[in-house]
Amino acid sequence: MWDGKLDVLVIGGGMISEEVILPTLFQERREGRVGEVLVATRRPATISHLRDAFPGKEFKGYPDPDRFPPEGSYPRSYIDALGDLGEHAAVIVATPDHLHTEMVLAAIEAGRDVIVEKPLCLRTEEALKIKRSAEEGGIYVYTDYHKRHDRAIRAVRYKYRRGELGELLHGHAWIEEKREMPLKVFSRWAERSSPFEYIGVHYVDAYYFITGLLPKRVVAFGQKKLLPRYGKEAYDAVQAVVEWEDCSVLWVQTSWVCSERNTALTNQGLQLLGTEGEHWADHKDRNCRFVTQEHGPEDYNPNFFKAYDSMDHPGEVDYVGYGYDSIVQGLEDIRRILRETEGLPSDEALSVRREILKELEPLRPLPSQALVGVAVVEAVRMSLENGNRFVRFDRELRPNLL
Ligand SMILES: NC(=O)c1ccc[n+]([C@@H]2O[C@H](COP(=O)([O-])OP(=O)(O)OC[C@H]3O[C@@H](n4cnc5c(N)ncnc54)[C@H](O)[C@@H]3O)[C@@H](O)[C@H]2O)c1
Repeated sequence: MWDGKLDVLVIGGGMISEEVILPTLFQERREGRVGEVLVATRRPATISHLRDAFPGKEFKGYPDPDRFPPEGSYPRSYIDALGDLGEHAAVIVATPDHLHTEMVLAAIEAGRDVIVEKPLCLRTEEALKIKRSAEEGGIYVYTDYHKRHDRAIRAVRYKYRRGELGELLHGHAWIEEKREMPLKVFSRWAERSSPFEYIGVHYVDAYYFITGLLPKRVVAFGQKKLLPRYGKEAYDAVQAVVEWEDCSVLWVQTSWVCSERNTALTNQGLQLLGTEGEHWADHKDRNCRFVTQEHGPEDYNPNFFKAYDSMDHPGEVDYVGYGYDSIVQGLEDIRRILRETEGLPSDEALSVRREILKELEPLRPLPSQALVGVAVVEAVRMSLENGNRFVRFDRELRPNLL
């Protein structure tokens, strides 16, 4: 009889794994919902770093730094880790955006349910392939769009769906991060990405999540002024205009070269105008500030993912926020699927899985919903590379130059 604990393999040991995913998993383990944690990275040195970052927290690391040179490159270590997973397990993909497809497909092939960091991938064709493979195998593939759990976004969805905003006319979303992101954190893959793929996609998904509307056409603009001076052929900033099927328009403004002295990592917010109402929210300024000798002035977002003194475990912390809620929603769905298929012959298990997935499809960022963000990301890239031309979508959301 299964004890209900989910073993979890995290592929990728970078910033989001260290700051959000692993703290979430260790907390879930403390609460009895997660069993073994496995981490697969490209370099053994990353495993050693994570062991130092989480003293006393057990996890299996691939490649093992005791057996392989620290700076060696083992891009397929996750295959060994997939093979070592127990019967009741989930996979979390947290590698650079352009690598998601390979790892998601490998997990599906191994019969494992998946949580993948946003965006699901960078090409509509790849997203459609993931969608087809997941449907065939009855596999759950959930994209971690944590803004869907931000109560500021949920509030707009609630009001919009009750009709209080009327029909949408236009919106403005902004999301901009500090220059340390392309210059330090993502210096290895900044040129393969852009601030639109990396963060702008959150607000494209948020608009879709709020309204349920599909995009009709996109035009994008980009600037390369600062990063080339640091030897990076990457965009400083990207802006896109997305026209939706009801002819409403969203302007999304993104960058990742903000000053290192900014009072938060991320400037972000959303403004919407409808025929019956308006909405404005600054998602950086939650009206909560600190000024300390250690960190200087800080705009503090208590809603995303923060540590608080634990209510039940003296001396420990509880992580709380929409970053946590989003991953836990995926883990809970996977636990449900495994519980409801426990002990069933494989053909019955497959039909139960398909029923659950059918029920979840309208509710979660499964591939049919995550496709919207992927399609817009690809269209933005196409527009940028073709002299800022308009890009339209076909019925399956494949982008085409107009
Ligand atoms: N949900 C969110 O808001 C959020 C926030 C930040 C990042 N992200 C997404 O999470 C993903 C990872 O971002 P990050 O900030 O952690 O980036 P990062 O560059 O800090 O980390 C990526 C990690 O993947 C590892 N990696 C590369 N190739 C690999 C391979 N073949 N096998 C195993 N590991 C491999 C790298 O070594 C690195 O440790 C990206 O898709 C990013 O867009 C999501």
